[in-house]
Amino acid sequence: MVISGEPDSTAMDAKIVLLGPPGSGKGTQAAILKERLGFTLISTGDLLREAVRLQTPLGIKAKEFMDAGKLVPNQLVVDLITEKVNSLNSGFILDGFPRNIDQAEVLEGITEIDVAINLDVDEDELVDRLTKRRTCKECNAVFHLMFKPPANEGVCDKCGEDLYQRSDDTEMVVRNRLKVYHDNTFPLIQHYEAKGKLANVSGRGSIEDIYHRMVRVIDTL
Ligand code: AP5
Ligand code: MG
Repeated sequence: MVISGEPDSTAMDAKIVLLGPPGSGKGTQAAILKERLGFTLISTGDLLREAVRLQTPLGIKAKEFMDAGKLVPNQLVVDLITEKVNSLNSGFILDGFPRNIDQAEVLEGITEIDVAINLDVDEDELVDRLTKRRTCKECNAVFHLMFKPPANEGVCDKCGEDLYQRSDDTEMVVRNRLKVYHDNTFPLIQHYEAKGKLANVSGRGSIEDIYHRMVRVIDTL
């Protein structure tokens, strides 16, 4: 599929998992791939934050784990994702799932992915990216006070709603999330490499450059 220029409808058939530590740019890149290439985006973090906001039974259970930077218990997330993936006839981008080997095995039972793209960023940059991140409370658009500031302070460029700081973006919780990533999610890199499904993409540099690196990977599918 050649998609480096205009959006190509076959791009939407690709089934892509985004891997990478907290702050590596998964949400940022997924949003651009959705906007420019028409991908369906499934972000477990966004789905869980919406459940917390609405105080659904899932949200009430998930909140304490999220606020502490821990993974939400597998079963809660697995039910959520199984329903979403099964409802799709096309491809998708999964941002935030799987987060451990058990979740990867569940996904393999539902569908076969084409590629797991691992966004690679130095750890010392991640804390700065996350503690200065601002997120739209309405459309989940992601900004950064220095690297991607909104045109008007505190206001989303896309929908005009207020920006907020995620409750798990304090330095203490960020450090815990990085530890949880190393213990649980990092092993997925080797898991997908062993299956011949891994593509490493440098997550350093400009958001636009990283997007083009990702498109080059998707072009090969
Ligand atoms: P989730 O929402 O998935 O958070 P995460 O994985 O920790 O990742 P982030 O969203 O923090 O980072 P990102 O990689 O999306 O970076 P972003 O693009 O925003 O999960 C949150 C919680 O939900 C978990 O802790 C857990 O509790 C729960 N959860 C979710 N999924 C789960 C699952 N499957 N199982 C169990 N629990 C689950 O970018 C970060 C910042 O950097 C932004 O400010 C952005 O503007 C900036 N930035 C982006 N690119 C660049 C660049 N190239 N240069 C400079 N700045 C940049
Ligand atoms: Mg994200």
